[in-house]
Amino acid sequence: MSSGLRKGLPGYGDVAFSLFLRKVFIKAMGYSDDALERPIVGIANTASDYNPCHGNVPELMECVKRGVLLAGALPMAFPTISIHESFAHPTSMFLRNLMAMDTEEMMRAQPMDAVVAIGGCDKTLPAQTMAAASANLPTVLLPTGPMVVGHYRGEVLGACTDCRRLWSEFRGGRIDAAEMERISGRLAPSVGTCMVMGTASTMACVLEAMGLGLPMSATAPAVHADRKRIAEASGRCAAEMAKRGSPRPDELITADSVHNAMVVLQAIGGSTNAVIHLAAIAGRAGVEFDLDALDRVGREVPVLVDVKPSGAHYMEHLHHAGGVPALLKQLKPFLRLSARNVARGTIDDTIAQAEEVPGQNVIRILAAPLKKEGAIAVLRGNLAPRGAVIKQSAASPELKRHTGRAVVFDSIEEMAARIDAADFDVRAEDVLVLRNAGPRGEPGMPEAGSLPIPMKLARAGIKDMVRLSDARMSGTAFGTVVLHITPEAAVGGPLAVVETGDRIRLDVEARALDLLVDETEIKRRLDAWKQKPARREPVRRGYAKLFEQCVLQADQGCDFDFLLRDGRSAQS
Ligand code: FES
Repeated sequence: MSSGLRKGLPGYGDVAFSLFLRKVFIKAMGYSDDALERPIVGIANTASDYNPCHGNVPELMECVKRGVLLAGALPMAFPTISIHESFAHPTSMFLRNLMAMDTEEMMRAQPMDAVVAIGGCDKTLPAQTMAAASANLPTVLLPTGPMVVGHYRGEVLGACTDCRRLWSEFRGGRIDAAEMERISGRLAPSVGTCMVMGTASTMACVLEAMGLGLPMSATAPAVHADRKRIAEASGRCAAEMAKRGSPRPDELITADSVHNAMVVLQAIGGSTNAVIHLAAIAGRAGVEFDLDALDRVGREVPVLVDVKPSGAHYMEHLHHAGGVPALLKQLKPFLRLSARNVARGTIDDTIAQAEEVPGQNVIRILAAPLKKEGAIAVLRGNLAPRGAVIKQSAASPELKRHTGRAVVFDSIEEMAARIDAADFDVRAEDVLVLRNAGPRGEPGMPEAGSLPIPMKLARAGIKDMVRLSDARMSGTAFGTVVLHITPEAAVGGPLAVVETGDRIRLDVEARALDLLVDETEIKRRLDAWKQKPARREPVRRGYAKLFEQCVLQADQGCDFDFLLRDGRSAQS
């Protein structure tokens, strides 16, 4: 197979001419023949003025290039789509698959023997891993790294668990608008990703544990010198992979590494969004992703990492406590130790090199966990035949077993219009239900699942209620929130026919979510639902049309059906 500059020549029908022409143009950049004969490491550049989570990408690219050159290969950076959570309408998840397609096709179209994919904000590392799995080109993931913590009036703050907590205080009338304005300047004090165990940190930790990034690459703060050294080492590592042609993603994304990802996800108090991303990554690699296996792992593996929103600390503290390698050491009894990594070693090798940090209290030992079960439980029942998830580590213990009256919102817009009305008929013991916010319903499954506590209850001091939806929730959020109900309402899941006043039972210990309505009545309602006209006009053009036609449900990772490894979907 061809390599370096000879890879993937344009189809002029004359190979020698195609290579000649390629050299003519690239020499315009001043490259020598020696440089152009080297193996090539592509560097996926996701810098954007709209993306502060990637604000250090230009600097990291320089460090990666240094590592590639030191190892005797040629670095070539190329741009891809960049997605930031707060700058992506209607929601970043709508664009994840577009980014995965862009990255995959750029990896295929341009000559490169290995890739360093630099990314961080929530959807980026998942999209890049999906792309790498499909292109099956040796790839090192390099997270941009978490922000450092902020400080306000003697309190340590971080995006965005504290954004949500303080916003709830503002809604409850306990903080005024002027103070909120001051606080907005303290929550994100540096470039980098959210510094709690949100989706970005979760995916970085999980993908490091899968061997797709170098040890400590998930946790080094974005502005720390460690981050730059890891970038240089990632460049070196990718150069070696370019020379050897391995390991390729299909050697790293395996049943064993997906199992290890589940173990780490449960132990870090990770984001529920990771369940969707892991299903999509596994789907690209042709590896089974079993929600019930994730639940079984969660019954055995406790939460060990004491980082917000499940715990008290922040990502930089996890880094200084030994990072993912030190965590893997604690989790050794649950891991498949022969799973490989980009550095040609195994998880067992990573564990052997883990740093011991005396007196650290961020990574607990198995005998004294933060929570005795894992972060995420998978629920089933007549309301979620294909499953739903709850981040039980961030839920209120007294609400984990609860039966209440359903109060239903048909859409995010309706919820926003009603939830703060003074005459809204709602009580603290009710179950708030949001539907038509799933992969097809909204579309893109926005992070609307942690519905705000209705204003009149927030002002009365209520901080949590049972809330359920077919939407997602930010990994930085907390509360008794059931998410990803599958099938979603928009495709006729039972959630579509819940009525205000119905009783709903949640029992996390029993892993049950049920609508306490007679099955024949549910069937009657579903038959009637099928006769109703569609809620919205079908989309007629562009990416939105592709999305509407091809997006899969949450249990299949919300990927497009034609992007799965075999290009087909059994259940969509
Ligand atoms: Fe980018 Fe939180 S907004 S990681």
